[in-house]
Amino acid sequence: MEIKNVVIPVAGWGTRSLPATKNVPKEMLPVYRKPIVQYIVEEAIAAGISDVIFVTNQNKRIIEDHFDRNFLLENLLERAGKDLLLQEIIRVAEMANIISLRQKEQLGLGHAILQAKDVCKHDPFAIMLGDDLVFGKDAGIKQLIDIALKEKKAVVGVIEVPKERVHKYGIIKGTEIEPGLYEVNSLVEKPKPENAPSNLAIIGRYVLLPEVFDDLEKQEAGVGGEIQLTDALQGLADRGKLLAVKLRGKRFDAGDWVEYLTANIYFALQDDALHDDLSAKLRELLPPK
Ligand code: UTP
Repeated sequence: MEIKNVVIPVAGWGTRSLPATKNVPKEMLPVYRKPIVQYIVEEAIAAGISDVIFVTNQNKRIIEDHFDRNFLLENLLERAGKDLLLQEIIRVAEMANIISLRQKEQLGLGHAILQAKDVCKHDPFAIMLGDDLVFGKDAGIKQLIDIALKEKKAVVGVIEVPKERVHKYGIIKGTEIEPGLYEVNSLVEKPKPENAPSNLAIIGRYVLLPEVFDDLEKQEAGVGGEIQLTDALQGLADRGKLLAVKLRGKRFDAGDWVEYLTANIYFALQDDALHDDLSAKLRELLPPK
């Protein structure tokens, strides 16, 4: 078994990030020097995935264009002798095979994933949400792929969240079988704190088996009137084929302003060229009390 496909749904409207996302897709907002979606594709490629399936809508063409050649720009960089930038631009265009599918109506994440049925066919596949950033050595989708290949089961990535935030996530009820690895018994989308079966929240990393498409086809609209992926995963859990792993590394939800801005600062601080000046500016903004 190998996992060569990742489905990256990017068809949502990004309402939490308006007005920035009125005409620019949320996934194309920059985190320091790169659009958010580039970090996600790079994480997939580093985990051995070759084919990236974007589920898009009509306003998201620039996402595909970002991973395509741009000969006008390349000629200009070549004439200007900007070789490093030129190499970087070409590297991004050649990073992955890009397949683009349209979700014609935004009926929810589960519905977005269902659009990839005919491309994924009979193979297990990864899903990475276009606004969830995970950083750290071998963290993120690689962790899930390693477990899925070993256990021959589907895997979701989870993190611990405070009780007052469980209503923003899909929450699992699981049995810990190894430290940080759970057999999932049930899942509930956006529960009230008093109804949450745990504080283990699913974030945007999944490795699923193709049988989930049959579950998605039968799935009725759930919370918010949307076809929820979390609800369809109950089928895999009932058949004893769903694990959850605690994700290592740092995670930022780019749809949340505090996390998006923190991600920018985190990355910029990793760059030696900016570190000292940026730190000084931040200290000016936040003088000691
Ligand atoms: P979110 O709910 O976080 O994203 O969906 P959103 O709808 O774009 O943003 P807000 O909440 O209004 O600010 C999680 C992921 O699922 C995709 C989104 O693009 C995002 O990557 N999605 C969601 C779809 O592709 N189609 C949908 O119908 C819904």
